[in-house]
Amino acid sequence: EKRLQPGGNALAAWEALVAEARSCTRCDLYKCGTQTVFGEGPLDARLLFVGEQPGDQEDLAGRPFVGPAGGVFDKALADAGVDRAATYVTNAVKHFKFERRGKRRIHSKPDGPEITACRWWLEQELALIRPPITVALGATAARSLFGKAVTISATRGKPHALEAGETWVTVHPSFLLRVRDNREEEYARFVEDLHAIGERAK
Ligand code: URA
Repeated sequence: EKRLQPGGNALAAWEALVAEARSCTRCDLYKCGTQTVFGEGPLDARLLFVGEQPGDQEDLAGRPFVGPAGGVFDKALADAGVDRAATYVTNAVKHFKFERRGKRRIHSKPDGPEITACRWWLEQELALIRPPITVALGATAARSLFGKAVTISATRGKPHALEAGETWVTVHPSFLLRVRDNREEEYARFVEDLHAIGERAK
């Protein structure tokens, strides 16, 4: 399989990757969403965040984390003193997977084969950017980066030495939109995680 070599003209390589990803058929999800939602951010970012998959608004905009979960993510990063514009933000799966309910498109979780198929793109992004720190937002991202299913509780709050380099795990911002009990505490814990990771990336 083709592997991108780090170094050289990184921007040209990244642009070629984005162009190639537009017509990806590695799994069937290309039939589902509007477009491939690739990662974005500076290629010399010191922090690379991995979400799950684009949601309804991301699918339409073609950009990661611009919907409700993106709103929580933006606020938490600001509260943690991390400049999102200096980070690279992507997803484990780059197409929106959903079920139709009337006019609404309801997010459904990507399965193992879909995560594995899309992992190739994430590996290309990691090889190109080589961030000192990679952060999994939630269990799907962690599963992709660890190459196996892991729990947030067992992996959160400490660095993991993975093939991608130093990797941290925290919750997915949409968890904070769903959670009923202790929402403020959970949000504060997320901000704490982001702050600690941000300090580490300095
Ligand atoms: N949730 C994700 O995991 N990624 C996005 O880009 C948006 C919502």
